[in-house]
Amino acid sequence: MKVTIFGSGYVGLVTGACLAEVGNEVLCIDIDPAKIDRLNRGEIPIFEPGLEELVHKNRSAGRLRFSTDPALGVRHGLFQFIAVGTPPDEDGSADLSHVLAVARSIGEHIGEYRIVIDKSTVPVGTADRVAETLLAAQRERGQSVEFDVVSNPEFLKEGAAIDDFMRPDRIVVGTDNPRTAELLRALYAPFNRNRDRLMVMDIRSAELTKYAANAMLATKISFMNELSNIAEAVGADVEKVRVGIGSDPRIGYQFIYPGCGYGGSCFPKDVRALEQTALGIGYSPQLLRAVEDINNRQKDVVFGKILDHFQGQLEGRTFAVWGLAFKPNTDDMREASSRRLIEALWQAGARVRAFDPEAHLEAQRLYGNRADLILTDDALSALEGADALVVMTEWAEFRSPDFAVIRALLRQPLVFDGRNLFDPKLVNAAGLDYYSIGRRPALANPKP
Ligand SMILES: NC(=O)c1ccc[n+]([C@@H]2O[C@H](COP(=O)([O-])OP(=O)(O)OC[C@H]3O[C@@H](n4cnc5c(N)ncnc54)[C@H](O)[C@@H]3O)[C@@H](O)[C@H]2O)c1
Repeated sequence: MKVTIFGSGYVGLVTGACLAEVGNEVLCIDIDPAKIDRLNRGEIPIFEPGLEELVHKNRSAGRLRFSTDPALGVRHGLFQFIAVGTPPDEDGSADLSHVLAVARSIGEHIGEYRIVIDKSTVPVGTADRVAETLLAAQRERGQSVEFDVVSNPEFLKEGAAIDDFMRPDRIVVGTDNPRTAELLRALYAPFNRNRDRLMVMDIRSAELTKYAANAMLATKISFMNELSNIAEAVGADVEKVRVGIGSDPRIGYQFIYPGCGYGGSCFPKDVRALEQTALGIGYSPQLLRAVEDINNRQKDVVFGKILDHFQGQLEGRTFAVWGLAFKPNTDDMREASSRRLIEALWQAGARVRAFDPEAHLEAQRLYGNRADLILTDDALSALEGADALVVMTEWAEFRSPDFAVIRALLRQPLVFDGRNLFDPKLVNAAGLDYYSIGRRPALANPKP
């Protein structure tokens, strides 16, 4: 089948590569010429495990092509995916300008029946706006070609995106047209072989399903973070509590890890956008508001512990930061907790030596070259001469370090762990003081 995808970011590129992998002819369109040039040279602009191989293989096979020409894109595919960004507007609502720009392009160039598929995360009612925009652009040309607009939200996780796309939990298709539903069923059949995962529903429910999923996941995280602060204050260990509640199958172990707050391109903006949707219809979304407030506060928790430990005196100190990406297996630093920490450290006059396995280019893009940020070649080098180690992302390679080496490299025997990666006893055994989330400080060197 012929497929066009507008937007070659995390979602568009993964969707394109996976649809090409199962035999479709895919054309990816992006407005960023530098990105398309890189893709046409065989370079992958983002880090996502397995993506590079998949793109190379399908480019070589001629099934995956890249262009900046929307006219070519509209001519190419029966299926026209919209996978462009929907960043937050100033009030937190989703900025639909990119989505509607694609709808306009399709309207400007449509010559025969097309299925327009919203894969971007968009608020309820966007499919109607896409249809209106497309119709208006057609009308200006005196055209009236038939088309359908479908909502097909994407649930992939950065870091496991290929696997999530190839073996999805569910494929949500919002359409009122049974014929369109069948065409999408055919397109998705290769990913749907051992059981039917396609859920056809009305468009508005499909649009809301995506926000509901992300808001629920964000709620789980904020719940655990709130609990971690209570646990710490009452002298309990949130990790024990986590295990205790996760054993109840109604609660489950997944996604109840306390930490230093959620980031990324989805949870923060989607919670805010859903909140704005609710406010727009006159409903006060108290839980969503709390989820976001708790997360905002949690992003400052590690910095607060550092500040307390040093009695507010951070001027001239150096901190080793392990992890910059908002989560492991990605180079994405959008709304990452590490950014809040690093910026607070700088503000207080401290310097940062940071290591992340994938996000250095992104950190350089965000912060440029500055004397108070050194990006080191490996995790241990970050520790040299630092006053403390601060763990901000739970990369696998940080999980089992040699604490004696850490102790030897640091200027002071001090670890702040925003992800609860370590067993306090092991850290203490190497003579290091250890601060984590939702647990009392574990001090190997009690203060006099
Ligand atoms: N990243 C994720 O994990 C994830 C998961 C599920 C859903 N989503 C949603 O998918 C959408 C895309 O997210 P992303 O992370 O891939 O974004 P991204 O920022 O990585 O990529 C978006 C791409 O769209 C391009 N673009 C913008 N306007 C365009 C236009 N008019 N025509 C063609 N290309 C255009 C940009 O240049 C960019 O390359 C968002 O709505 C997001 O909420 C993201």
